[in-house]
Amino acid sequence: MVENTFLMVKPDGVQRQLIGEILQRFERKGFQLAGAKLMQISQELAEEHYGEHKGKSFYNELVEFITSGPVFAMVWQGENVIETSRQMMGKTNPKEALPGTIRGDYGVIVGKNIIHGSDSPEAAEREIGLFFKQEELVGYEKLM
Ligand code: CMP
Repeated sequence: MVENTFLMVKPDGVQRQLIGEILQRFERKGFQLAGAKLMQISQELAEEHYGEHKGKSFYNELVEFITSGPVFAMVWQGENVIETSRQMMGKTNPKEALPGTIRGDYGVIVGKNIIHGSDSPEAAEREIGLFFKQEELVGYEKLM
């Protein structure tokens, strides 16, 4: 099924100049870019985006990190893109992510794992809505 997902290069990935590399992986795979922007996440947006982790031991660290510098937010479209993009990113903890995946190739620690991606259709819809206005997306409405 053709889907949309929300992917985001985190502050460590932007700082390490991995935006181009990451864009290239998803483009070459054959997915379509429906929207993208470099942005600074506010405290409020960070708390909303990571609301499900509130109360966890790493929550404060997570919010502090995601607001520490610019991120590159993206919407990608394609057949089964939610699950396939997660396979391309690799396991959340780079220690467990296989070589050939983004986290496996570029990450070392779980708190700085380069990229975020929606983990379900519900999360994708919620996260796209949090980060993008409809008019910032191209072709997205076709799938709604
Ligand atoms: P992400 O996919 O953005 O969703 C939640 C994030 O929490 C996850 O990636 C990790 O970067 C982060 N995370 C998970 N476990 C830990 C941890 N033990 N310490 C710090 N950050 C964590």
